[in-house]
Amino acid sequence: MDHAKFNIIKLFLLICLGAIRGTSGAVTLSSLPNTVRVPENSPATVVASFTVSATGGATVPSGLPIIINSNPLSSAFTISNINLNCEILFTGNPILDFETAPNTFNLQIYVNDSKGDTDLQILTIVITDVDEPPVFLDNLKYQAVSVYITENSPPGTIYTVLAYDPEKKPLQYSLQPTSYPFIISDETGSIISTKVFDYEKDLKSYNLLVKVGDGTNPEINGTVIVNIVNTNDNAPIFTMKQTTFTIPEEQAPGTIVANITAQDADDFSYAGNLTFSINPTDYFIINPLMGTIQVAERIDRDAKPLRDNPLITVEVSVIDSPKGGQSSSMSITFNVTDINDNPPVCIPDTYRPQVEETAIINTRITTITCTDIDVDPPNNQFKFTNLSCNGCNRMFDLNPAFSGNIVLTGSLDLEQPNNPLEYTLTVVAEDITAPFYKDTAYVYVIVLPVNENPPVFNPATYNFSLSELNGQGTLVGVVTASDKDIPFTGITYSIVAGGSTLGYSNIFWIDPNTGAIQLMTEPDYETTSKYVLNIEAVDNDPKDPKTANAVMTVNILEANNEKPMCKPNDYTLTIPTDLSPGTNIQRFQLTCTDRDSPPTAFRYTINSGNINNHFDFSPPEGSNITRLILAEPFHYSDGLDKQWNYKLIVFITDDNLLSKGIVETGTVTINVKVVNTGLTTVSTTTPPSITYIHIAKNVYATMSWYVPFIITLGAMLLLGFLVYLLYHLAKYLSTKDLSCCTPKPDKYKEPLIQNTNNAMKEVVLELTNVNTVFDGEAVDPVTGKVYEFNTKSGARRWKDTHIVNDTQPIKMESSELVIPVLPSTINKGKGRIGTANGQKTNCNDVKAEQKRAEKKNVFGPDPKSLFENPAGQPTEGLSPLPTPKTKQEGEPKPILKKGDLSEV
Ligand SMILES: *[C@@H]1O[C@H](CO)[C@@H](O)[C@H](O)[C@H]1NC(C)=O
Ligand SMILES: *[C@@H]1O[C@H](CO)[C@@H](O)[C@H](O)[C@H]1NC(C)=O
Ligand SMILES: *[C@@H]1O[C@H](CO)[C@@H](O)[C@H](O)[C@H]1NC(C)=O
Ligand SMILES: *[C@@H]1O[C@H](CO)[C@@H](O)[C@H](O)[C@H]1NC(C)=O
Ligand SMILES: *[C@@H]1O[C@H](CO)[C@@H](O)[C@H](O)[C@H]1NC(C)=O
Ligand SMILES: *[C@@H]1O[C@H](CO)[C@@H](O)[C@H](O)[C@H]1NC(C)=O
Ligand SMILES: *[C@@H]1O[C@H](CO)[C@@H](O)[C@H](O)[C@H]1NC(C)=O
Ligand SMILES: *[C@@H]1O[C@H](CO)[C@@H](O)[C@H](O)[C@H]1NC(C)=O
Repeated sequence: MDHAKFNIIKLFLLICLGAIRGTSGAVTLSSLPNTVRVPENSPATVVASFTVSATGGATVPSGLPIIINSNPLSSAFTISNINLNCEILFTGNPILDFETAPNTFNLQIYVNDSKGDTDLQILTIVITDVDEPPVFLDNLKYQAVSVYITENSPPGTIYTVLAYDPEKKPLQYSLQPTSYPFIISDETGSIISTKVFDYEKDLKSYNLLVKVGDGTNPEINGTVIVNIVNTNDNAPIFTMKQTTFTIPEEQAPGTIVANITAQDADDFSYAGNLTFSINPTDYFIINPLMGTIQVAERIDRDAKPLRDNPLITVEVSVIDSPKGGQSSSMSITFNVTDINDNPPVCIPDTYRPQVEETAIINTRITTITCTDIDVDPPNNQFKFTNLSCNGCNRMFDLNPAFSGNIVLTGSLDLEQPNNPLEYTLTVVAEDITAPFYKDTAYVYVIVLPVNENPPVFNPATYNFSLSELNGQGTLVGVVTASDKDIPFTGITYSIVAGGSTLGYSNIFWIDPNTGAIQLMTEPDYETTSKYVLNIEAVDNDPKDPKTANAVMTVNILEANNEKPMCKPNDYTLTIPTDLSPGTNIQRFQLTCTDRDSPPTAFRYTINSGNINNHFDFSPPEGSNITRLILAEPFHYSDGLDKQWNYKLIVFITDDNLLSKGIVETGTVTINVKVVNTGLTTVSTTTPPSITYIHIAKNVYATMSWYVPFIITLGAMLLLGFLVYLLYHLAKYLSTKDLSCCTPKPDKYKEPLIQNTNNAMKEVVLELTNVNTVFDGEAVDPVTGKVYEFNTKSGARRWKDTHIVNDTQPIKMESSELVIPVLPSTINKGKGRIGTANGQKTNCNDVKAEQKRAEKKNVFGPDPKSLFENPAGQPTEGLSPLPTPKTKQEGEPKPILKKGDLSEV
């Protein structure tokens, strides 16, 4: 109020001053109103107009009039002056607003002229009130306002519009479009959301037109843009439909087998924000960003556990970012399918069937077994093909075709040429699908020989002949059997029957391998002249041996192996000197026998002692009886004959009829004593008393311990008996006068038998009563030495004296043939033993017999058979070797057999 009074006072003063001065000047501001009303908020306009008038020629300088002062100071007004027609202009700036003070402007308009006159007038401009529309106070006044709200936020005020009305009138707010879920409060201008927004479903933004009105003026409007802000409120979802993937086995690691795709509803544009994972990770891995599932390790459908169940189920998860975001998972199943990745395998791959050579066609040889571990057909199916056989032409085949059954299609007969004992076959087991894997099995067919053919003797019968002279070891002959079976298993020969005699079980021995038949001992034609042997040949087939038999006849050919035997073979004859030629000496007949020669074969020759050929035999040959005749007379008186005693060694040979062959010779010794016919013949009336004591010492088996015991005991008893006899003899002789005793010839002083054979200990002891008185002397015609003799007994001894006249006749001892006869009781059982002067021959005979006996045991005791048979029991028929003959019996049988004891 003070200010306004001051202004009024001031204006008054000015007016007073102007009036003073106007009165003195000529410049005037004419038609200038005092007050002008201008509505508020007017645009630039002319507020008032006036003119300037100057008198007196005065001029108004340009630029005048001017508003020299404005109260309050404002630049909103100017003056335009066109030829002194002036206008007060409102420039529009600043806007004249009624509501904002000041509402009244006092403009002092001043003008002077060249003469110095001035004029000053005041124009009052009053701002008048106008009803104005409301105005926004916020940014709506200038632009659209954006408001952001997150989805899922609860309903509520999202923005408050700031507006006012200059006239303070109440405002009405409204929103357009009304379909949007927003309302605006009239009182407060708050925009309120009426729902929970879902970014994914609802509009992402809303353009709201906010209108504000004051009831009179047009409404003002502004735009509020409501933006819904996305939040991670959704889990990602898988977008692929496939949940089962069928994949082949054995794919290389890294192979992509499935693509997992997922989307997050919150953010479609950022697929990379999804992270994939897989569980378990046994077989597969997943690219966490791309979602591609790759093979992580070998997937073998043919091995457990996939062999049992080809399905692999994994859990695939996807999570949106950031960490801790929402996730989803699903099951993915992989169906692993089989591929043909395994070959058929043949275990075993080697077969060794054995087939008999007689197997018929279609015989199953063997069955090959192979397996293919691929799971599913046809990957695990295969067929057998390509049966190949090296060197056999269509001998085997697969039946049924392509099966593992190998059957025979030919003949394995080993007897057919070129058929082998073993066949080598190969069979290929091949997959029926690509890539056609294969395996090979090897079959070695072993052909078993069958003994189809028996051995055959060729020839079937044998006829051998051999001389009985052949001894042990002589090859009789060879039998041969053949066998058509191939392979040849060899043939074993044996003697199954025949070839034995009474004393010997096996005359023959056959080599089991070669069939060569040998003599085991010397055969004796005189015992057995023909042997019929049954020979057996066995092929050595281990299962079914077959045999063949052949008859072998062995003819023993007689041979001259027996010497003429003359019994006795030692004789002593006494003939007178005047015996006329041609006389059969003492009617002596030599009688001989020969077991294998006829009597006509005999030939008699005097080998030695036939001095001056006095003696001869008649007939000299062709008879078993011949006579000794005096061929030439004696001529002692002429001195032609000086020999008184002749020892004729007579050979009896059996070669009279034989032109060749073996000649056996018997020997007979004949002592012929020529006596002077002038001498008195004294006949010995008392034959010498000869006692033969035969001690036989048996060969005994070592086991028979009692034999030596008994022998020793017997020998001791005998010795005692002998001593006893000798004692009594000596006693007797000592008590008797020796001269009265009849002299005994010492002719038999020597033992008749000298047993030189240790093996056959036979002792002949001779006890002779010897007359030791020698009452005669004579000269030995051979040696010329003088000897003494007993005229009665004929005992003689050499005399130590010089040679006497050899012409002295010898007194004939006896004209009778003196043949000592052995007592048969003593001689029995000893063979041809006991003839005087026949020791050597007898010994030879005994030796011959012994030798024969030994020959028959030429192999000697088989140590093995001895071991098995300690007692030496013959094991006849078992061993091809001869069994040792026991010598336990005291008398060898051959001697008994051949000894002709009955003839003695
Ligand atoms: C007229 O007024 C102007 C400005 O106010 C002034 O400069 C001038 O000197 C005056 N003239 C005279 C003659 O007084
Ligand atoms: C908004 O107001 C302006 C003037 O301020 C007017 O021209 C316009 O037509 C109005 N719009 C609406 C939709 O009312
Ligand atoms: C997976 O996706 C890759 C690349 O997008 C493509 O090369 C491949 O063939 C797909 N594999 C499968 C199994 O869908
Ligand atoms: C993941 O999404 C966020 C926004 O939600 C974005 O900023 C980021 O770049 C995305 N990450 C990738 C790897 O695209
Ligand atoms: C797996 O795949 C095989 C071959 O395609 C099919 O026969 C079989 O039914 C499948 N198994 C499953 C469980 O899908
Ligand atoms: C059969 O054998 C022949 C010769 O041995 C050979 O060339 C061929 O490849 C074999 N066939 C098969 C299927 O094995
Ligand atoms: C066997 O041979 C002997 C002597 O050569 C002969 O006498 C005999 O007739 C023959 N026997 C057969 C059966 O041939
Ligand atoms: C001599 O031979 C004949 C037949 O020629 C015979 O009868 C006789 O017995 C034989 N004598 C002796 C002693 O052997």
